[in-house]
Amino acid sequence: MSQAGVHISVLYQPVIDALQPHADGRYIDGTLGAGGHAAGILQASAPTGRLLGLDADTKALAVAAQNLARYGERALLIHSNFENLKSIAAANGFDPADGIVLDLGLSSMQLADAERGFSFLSDGALDMRFNADNETTAAELVNALDEKGLADLIFEYGEEHASRRIARAIVNARPIETATQLANVIERAVGRHGKIHPATKTFQALRIAVNRELEVIENVLPQIVDTLAPGGRVAIISFHSLEDRRIKNFFKSSERLRVLTKHPIRPTREESIANSRSRSAKLRVAEKIL
Ligand SMILES: C[S@@+](CC[C@H](N)C(=O)[O-])C[C@H]1O[C@@H](n2cnc3c(N)ncnc32)[C@H](O)[C@@H]1O
Repeated sequence: MSQAGVHISVLYQPVIDALQPHADGRYIDGTLGAGGHAAGILQASAPTGRLLGLDADTKALAVAAQNLARYGERALLIHSNFENLKSIAAANGFDPADGIVLDLGLSSMQLADAERGFSFLSDGALDMRFNADNETTAAELVNALDEKGLADLIFEYGEEHASRRIARAIVNARPIETATQLANVIERAVGRHGKIHPATKTFQALRIAVNRELEVIENVLPQIVDTLAPGGRVAIISFHSLEDRRIKNFFKSSERLRVLTKHPIRPTREESIANSRSRSAKLRVAEKIL
């Protein structure tokens, strides 16, 4: 069993195998988290490989800094959204890069942090920002959008069919300040069927909206291709179809990439059992050809 809040890297070995890190290589991890994949890249590229790690969350960056301290100056960690990847890489000697990894979404540390409001099991304020410097929180969206705006957001980013019913219940229950309050409003509106909490898709939708998750992926994909050296590889793990579709279509349509995963790599049965967070993960890999 994993301890709550300890992050276990998803598809760890497949990511390292995909990137084939080597000494003297330059690598970028755009979603550092606890630094698990980053540590694997630094180990495999010893003694001279270097890694640039980004995270939008300063708390994650502090954990990664501790976990990667033993690699000294081989690891350079910067607080930033990965949508600035190209300019940060260029400014720090990581353009061109030999490999780039993104492991999207949130970490177990963030999910377990009650103050962040990512989980409907915690009574934290409904925040959901990866970067605490950003302005809009989930509570602001939930309390300010009109009913149609809320329903559209929940339908589009959550692929939730009960979006209208949920939006109406939210509007009637406002103001909503905490994650559990929202989860309970949704459960009362649509009932509970099966094991998955009825608020799951609405929470996903709010997180995507608060962090502009689909927009930042679309912004970073061309930057990754520009930044990779010819022969360099990109590995991206996504956790829902809205992200995966964008990555798949971009890889397929780019003339500068050769797709190495005709079908996405999925966790083994053993990994899914050991780490339930990995269950929906899909890894896609491509190589820059020109
Ligand atoms: C799933 S965790 C990464 C875990 C990491 N691969 C590991 O092995 O420890 C995702 C991390 O990416 C960060 N993140 C998500 N979207 C981001 C973005 N657009 N820019 C920078 N960091 C982001 C989150 O704050 C979180 O710490």
